Amino acid sequence: MKILVIHGPNLNLLGEREVEIYGKVTLDEINKGLEDRAKSLGVEVEAFQSNHEGEIIEAIQNARKGYDSLIINPAAFTHYSIAIRDALATLTIPIIEVHLSNIYSREPFRHKSVVAGVATGQISGFGPDSYSLALDAAIFVRQAKDRTS
Ligand code: DQA
Repeated sequence: MKILVIHGPNLNLLGEREVEIYGKVTLDEINKGLEDRAKSLGVEVEAFQSNHEGEIIEAIQNARKGYDSLIINPAAFTHYSIAIRDALATLTIPIIEVHLSNIYSREPFRHKSVVAGVATGQISGFGPDSYSLALDAAIFVRQAKDRTS
């Protein structure tokens, strides 16, 4: 099983950026944690980060081939990118939307996710552990889908 992980804008600055909200763990550490967990679970993960909407859309389009599930933290694009939502809507693989912070306990403009409606589910508020939970969910949902198809 191969799982693509997409990290949106400013997540390359994790560990330095608003540490009181996002903590001190870096993106490299999150990706390493995911790789280790994936290895122990017998699956493969590939991680991609971009600060550019078009690059994220292209990565989502590429996920149509060769991946079994997608984990995505669209970061600020979560709240307004209809283009990313539309790209996600083209996928038939499970999509797990993930956020480090609890977007519902923050500013009102973060309460709305325009991608949630096309995701299989959302994990929000567990810090870096949101990603490990998302990996478990991505595997679980994929296996459940395979059992019923
Ligand atoms: C975020 C939450 C977003 O509102 C914010 O713009 C981010 C990160 C999170 O992981 O908590 O950049 O997606």
